[in-house]
Amino acid sequence: MIDLNAPLCKLLGIRLPILQAPTGSIAGAALASAVSEAGGLGSMGATWLDEAALLAQIETVKANTPLPFMVNYALAFPPKTLSAALQSGVPVITFSWGDPTPYLPHVRAFGAKVGVQVTNAQGARRMIEAGADFLICQGVEAGGHVQSTTPLWELLPQIVVAAGATPVVAAGGLARGADMAKAFALGAQGAVFGTRFVASRESLAHEIYKRELVAAKASDTALTVCFNRGWEYAAHRVVRNSVFQEWEGAGSPAVGQRPGEGDTVGYSASGEAIFRYEDVAPRIGMTGSIEAMCLYAGASCEGIDDIPSAQEIVARLAEEFAETRAAPEKPFRMFF
Ligand SMILES: Cc1cc2nc3c(=O)[nH]c(=O)nc-3n(C[C@H](O)[C@H](O)[C@H](O)COP(=O)(O)O)c2cc1C
Repeated sequence: MIDLNAPLCKLLGIRLPILQAPTGSIAGAALASAVSEAGGLGSMGATWLDEAALLAQIETVKANTPLPFMVNYALAFPPKTLSAALQSGVPVITFSWGDPTPYLPHVRAFGAKVGVQVTNAQGARRMIEAGADFLICQGVEAGGHVQSTTPLWELLPQIVVAAGATPVVAAGGLARGADMAKAFALGAQGAVFGTRFVASRESLAHEIYKRELVAAKASDTALTVCFNRGWEYAAHRVVRNSVFQEWEGAGSPAVGQRPGEGDTVGYSASGEAIFRYEDVAPRIGMTGSIEAMCLYAGASCEGIDDIPSAQEIVARLAEEFAETRAAPEKPFRMFF
């Protein structure tokens, strides 16, 4: 049974400890509100949105559901819209990829709860001292940009010990309720699902991208620096698509010497060119060679076989989680 009185659920005001990961521009208002309405915590990535676009998304979520949701900032880029997000009443903010300490007092002044992504025990202790309300423990199996260098099942117990009474949620490579149960057995109070929700009906991912996620297995993903146009020096996990394979086949050459460098692979809905090796994931309305774009995917794609609604995903996760916890002798499914 899910412990509805667990500190994390109380802290965030949610019924189920199922968090939708912020998946950049792929996680829009429809997905965030559907996850929150289903009892989890929906989210949106604010890093690359301008203020008007972000506020429009926040207003849509608030119109769709009275329930909490979260907004994420990857601090490799300045969080220019943070004040606007807080003023609009966002209840939960998360930070990843940078030092959030300068922003934490500001978030707290608005009464919002704050989660920080950590990848080692030292970072966990520092973030608790700085005032984080909960920690996001990301394992190297994660999709998208991967801050972590350690497998989740190795890292999670270390973060849980370092966190003490502060709730920890697990992220990276999780797709099923059994994965969530394993994370709870190691001390997590919540589980974060990114790729699983990218392959949902409400996500803004292009249909071809969603189908690639369904087709892919964990071994079809790579942790790489291949798609670095737009964000350098940040490893990311993607599907080993044609662009990746051609680059790898050429000996993974450096920027400036890569096959087809400078080629246009497609266009955004507003007609802007998308270049080969660009960090942009394919969204609804984009045209061109969708398969050749940056197909972020966690090792979790191993456990993704369909493209259901967000509501169905949440319900399934909760049910599988309860079943696994009721039958602890059942072996846990592991990707590595
Ligand atoms: C398409 C995509 C975009 C992502 N964008 C962000 C982001 O903007 N900020 C962030 O903190 N994490 C981002 N992530 C990483 C997620 O927060 C999370 O760590 C990851 O999805 C967990 O692994 P999983 O995909 O196997 O569930 C992204 C992941 C994906 C798949």
